[in-house]
Amino acid sequence: MQTVDGVEEVEVGYHLRTEAQGLGYATEAARACLEFARARGTSRVVAIIDPANLASQRVALKCGLVLEKQVVTGALQQLVFAA
Ligand SMILES: CC(C)(COP(=O)(O)OP(=O)(O)OC[C@H]1O[C@@H](n2cnc3c(N)ncnc32)[C@H](O)[C@@H]1OP(=O)(O)O)[C@@H](O)C(=O)NCCC(=O)NCCS
Repeated sequence: MQTVDGVEEVEVGYHLRTEAQGLGYATEAARACLEFARARGTSRVVAIIDPANLASQRVALKCGLVLEKQVVTGALQQLVFAA
């Protein structure tokens, strides 16, 4: 769970060891997590991503999440992808 703009949201996150990146594993795993959440009645999932993190944004898009908004958390600007 993450608080985004004062709202509690279910978040999907991913982090792979360097040698495992670029092989599609992040997308495969994130899709499985989204299916798991939806099968249990979660209607909305977000991914909170640094604007410079293009690989992470690409994973979110490939999982069907869409860019919804930009939020400021402390000194950090972050993008919120959701579906
Ligand atoms: C983000 C992360 C999980 C992605 O892992 P991955 O194994 O490369 O992911 P996938 O292979 O499933 O997909 C990556 C996609 O991003 C694309 N991509 C990678 N680097 C990119 C870049 N610099 N610019 C644009 N697209 C990029 C790839 O081409 C691929 O898209 P494609 O299948 O359409 O070609 C991995 O980079 C990571 O662990 N990073 C460090 C932790 C992190 O940043 N986590 C996310 C925090 S929000």
